[in-house]
Amino acid sequence: MLLNKGFSKESQNNMTLIDMKKRTLKIASPGRINLIGEHIDYNDGFVLPAAIDKCIYFTLRANGSENRCTIKSKGFDSILVLDLKSFEKGTEGWHNYVLGVIYEIQSLTDKVAGFDCEIESKVPVGSGVSSSAALECGLAYGLNELFDLGLDKWQLILIGQLAEHNFVGTKCGIMDQFASVMGKKDHMLLLDCRSLEYEEIPIAIAPYRLLLLNTNVAHNLSTGEYNVRRAQCAEGLELLAKRFQIEKSFRNVIPEMLVQTREELGETLYDRCSYVVEETNRVLEVVKALKNNDLETVGALMYQTHEGLSKKYEVSCPELDFLVDFSKNEPQVLGARMMGGGFGGCTLNIIHEDVIDQFVQKATAAYQEAFDIELTSFETVPSQGTSLIRE
Ligand code: GLA
Repeated sequence: MLLNKGFSKESQNNMTLIDMKKRTLKIASPGRINLIGEHIDYNDGFVLPAAIDKCIYFTLRANGSENRCTIKSKGFDSILVLDLKSFEKGTEGWHNYVLGVIYEIQSLTDKVAGFDCEIESKVPVGSGVSSSAALECGLAYGLNELFDLGLDKWQLILIGQLAEHNFVGTKCGIMDQFASVMGKKDHMLLLDCRSLEYEEIPIAIAPYRLLLLNTNVAHNLSTGEYNVRRAQCAEGLELLAKRFQIEKSFRNVIPEMLVQTREELGETLYDRCSYVVEETNRVLEVVKALKNNDLETVGALMYQTHEGLSKKYEVSCPELDFLVDFSKNEPQVLGARMMGGGFGGCTLNIIHEDVIDQFVQKATAAYQEAFDIELTSFETVPSQGTSLIRE
């Protein structure tokens, strides 16, 4: 696909360009976790994510040219050079996230000029903590600052999501970009994905902690199967809406309707849709439990979510199932589940701080024995969203 925007830069006077050239910005853009509400952001559900304390860092400056951009990834040790006036979809994985963001921004404004950007990531790739949203949102945020584009946070979020839809090809929901941009220290964010209203929920879980166990597998199914799940839910909803004369939203679907249409839906669509309805309710139950400091209930609901994702939504994999089952044997782990799109990546565990080291050691040995793969782990805390850290 050749994208030829051909914007004139007449609106940008030379003085501004010179001023911009002097500025070097440093942006930090975090990955995210999600306590509960998986695969329902694109189904009008609720989600409960947070930004994490692992970020992608961007060093960004205008280079004085009208259209020439260089974007260097330290981690991949490669440089993407592009002309803002005409560029094509990229071939290397990370390129399309970058190109997609630039493309979406250029559909909103002609104020972007040539820039140089260096990217260094501390967010593990392919581990379900959305390094992709961190990349999209950090770049969008940085360009907004650098060229004074006047875009608000929701516009940055949507730019990230559209980049992923149009350039990467994953028809993702809004959760990852939302969490990366809006993250707040020590808070989970309850987002209503239908209205886009959200509430910041304080999370103080000491002596428990949030621990991620990384399977270090990323089964290649993810993008294709993700879009398939989305299409299956849309198909099921279409049928339910017709049958019960309801407005087409999973919010209007109650379990009784699913029972009545089980045969028409068939096993697969029934499973997908009933998972969505159950998971939407679970999020609200978790929020209630969190507010009551009832972490046992939070944990039990996380296990239920995993079961649903594994059996009904079928986005887990043997490695994730193994780690969740392993956690069930440790009484000091209150809950565990796969997190993010699935087919690999991390499990999220709520675990007592006293047993973390022992637990990780035991899990690492067992995982190595079962799959001959090294397990890695890290703790995280809800953190601030994308921000400017130095000018
Ligand atoms: C990916 C997508 C999100 C969300 C999760 C599953 O991370 O980018 O929008 O759908 O999967 O909850």
